Amino acid sequence: MRLSDCHNIEDFRRLARATLPWPVFDYIDGAADDELTKARNTAAFDDVDLVPNVLGGVAEIDTSCTIMGRRSALPLVLSPTGLQRAFHWQGERAVARAAEKFGLWFGVSSLATVSIEDIAALVSTPKLFQLYVHKDRGLNTSLIERCKAAGFDAIALTVDTIVAGNRERCLRSGFTTPPRFTPSSLWSYATRPRWALDYVFREKLRLANLDSHVSEGTGKAVSIAEYVNTMLDPAMDWDAAARIRQDWGGTFCLKGVMSVADARRAVQIGADAIMVSNHGGRQLDGSRAPFDQLAEIVDAIGGEIEVICDGGVRRGTHVLKALAQGATAASGGRLYLYALAAAGQPGVERAIGLLKAEIERGMRLMGVTSVDQLDRTMLRQR
Ligand SMILES: Cc1cc2nc3c(=O)[nH]c(=O)nc-3n(C[C@H](O)[C@H](O)[C@H](O)COP(=O)(O)O)c2cc1C
Repeated sequence: MRLSDCHNIEDFRRLARATLPWPVFDYIDGAADDELTKARNTAAFDDVDLVPNVLGGVAEIDTSCTIMGRRSALPLVLSPTGLQRAFHWQGERAVARAAEKFGLWFGVSSLATVSIEDIAALVSTPKLFQLYVHKDRGLNTSLIERCKAAGFDAIALTVDTIVAGNRERCLRSGFTTPPRFTPSSLWSYATRPRWALDYVFREKLRLANLDSHVSEGTGKAVSIAEYVNTMLDPAMDWDAAARIRQDWGGTFCLKGVMSVADARRAVQIGADAIMVSNHGGRQLDGSRAPFDQLAEIVDAIGGEIEVICDGGVRRGTHVLKALAQGATAASGGRLYLYALAAAGQPGVERAIGLLKAEIERGMRLMGVTSVDQLDRTMLRQR
């Protein structure tokens, strides 16, 4: 299977599976416990049907919209994901360049393998920095100051990772950062020589935003669960979120809000946006899908702040359904991560290009010429 054989996100998933050692693939693909929530995140879109209008005069259409005060060429945000260098040697640089090429927001994780400063120097596309609140307060302050100095456009505070989710595929594979070669996983690394050679001979994997502060950034092998459970602050609360919002002072998003009550509190602390998200099913398994939860959140606070529907998106029509339900935009991680793993920057560009084509085709078939024409009259629950 080659890049030219990939015609949808699931094809990229298959190519990623064939390209990566299984512990690395399972880190991307896996989720918490029984992975029910991960499956539901995508299945939720299938329970709602689109009702098109015809003869809309759709020769010219405009797919762009404003997200957190910045123009985006598509109603799609590339969610922040850590460790991209482990998936492909081009890592975040590939995703950032592809985001820029398509005029999209690029999310940079606290656990990114390229630094805030290097990303800022590399691309001019809108950038959000995803903040994990560490017990080390000095580290939190320093990350915020670095984002200000680098001219980041927004901070997204992740609030659904107060402890690590139970990712059983990672327990079985022993996946750590940097990868630790256990007897059981060694074979899979050996049978993926291209990944292994790139891993050994190209730029070294580092947690580029953390390595001056924590030993976990220095190359010592740790699992993400160990990292979350030892370094992040489980005492984080609404007051802490409000303080961070104030310290940052710029455009602020809460990532991982799922309830109406929390969405209202996000408005109260002055957030500009929320990402309705369950972390791609990687945290609380059995929790509701963002798309299922979208309508009640939009009904409660839509119009006051922006609502981004995060997770499960694998098709352009998923984006259109989220917008019709009232979201400002949709966002996702695996939709570009499989492609990154499969083929680096050309892979990410092809994946985003396919989604762009699906969004454009879907809009024409729905009879709309701009994304703000999508509304609930065009959706029916099965
Ligand atoms: C491999 C991987 C790493 C992730 N790393 C982070 C992270 O560092 N910080 C964060 O807030 N979310 C992280 N996420 C969650 C994504 O931002 C996003 O919420 C999730 O991918 C949405 O689900 P989807 O993959 O189905 O689109 C990660 C997701 C994946 C798959």
